[in-house]
Amino acid sequence: MDRRIITIDGPAGAGKTTVSKALARELGCVYVDTGALYRAVAFEIRCQHINWEDSAQLERFLACLDLDFVMEGREPVLTSSGRDISAYIRTHEISMLASATSAVPQVRKALLGIQKSIARERDAVFEGRDMGTAVFPDASYKFFLAADVNVRARRRFEESNASGISFEKILEDMVKRDSDDTRRAVSPLKQAPDAVLIDATALDVFQVVEKMKRIINGVQTRFSDQI
Ligand code: DC
Repeated sequence: MDRRIITIDGPAGAGKTTVSKALARELGCVYVDTGALYRAVAFEIRCQHINWEDSAQLERFLACLDLDFVMEGREPVLTSSGRDISAYIRTHEISMLASATSAVPQVRKALLGIQKSIARERDAVFEGRDMGTAVFPDASYKFFLAADVNVRARRRFEESNASGISFEKILEDMVKRDSDDTRRAVSPLKQAPDAVLIDATALDVFQVVEKMKRIINGVQTRFSDQI
């Protein structure tokens, strides 16, 4: 049976996570955060002191990597060697390392299987950077969520207020991360030609999800409204 796969790609801080979770809930399918996989790789590289620029060492590390999504209700929780690591992968340092290591083709290849295996088993909303382009080119519906970089950095700043990192630093790093994610040679962040672009700069989560639902339910075609 063909699964219903919905992809939501876009840059950091555009609201993909909140929107993807809300959409998955509304549609009654699972939500998969593929950024968490790249963060998990970065976290393990950091913990195990791996020199990821050494290709042989990286290969050995990836061969032993044991990442899995364990279902907790509708939300798969990411585990590494059976341990829930979600509490450790959202730091600023891991964000930057994940962006750097996600550009390495070996890393991307190692994470492909786990993403595809979830899609074989369940209808799902997949959030990431290359969902609609590289991982699920035949997805049922594809969206690309964009927003002004200043608005995105402001959201991240408000989320991470306790960390003590300034707005200027978050903005600077976000511009760098956007540039690295967009310019890397393998699976760069880019809108799939058949993805619907939604600019969320002036929209709230509810409005974005409503637009997506109208398209999925066939009430609105991708060209019937300047989204
Ligand atoms: O969505 P996020 O900020 O949690 O993602 C962390 C990093 O992982 C991001 O800088 C780019 C990378 N990533 C990727 O290359 N491909 C994906 N499908 C998801 C994330």
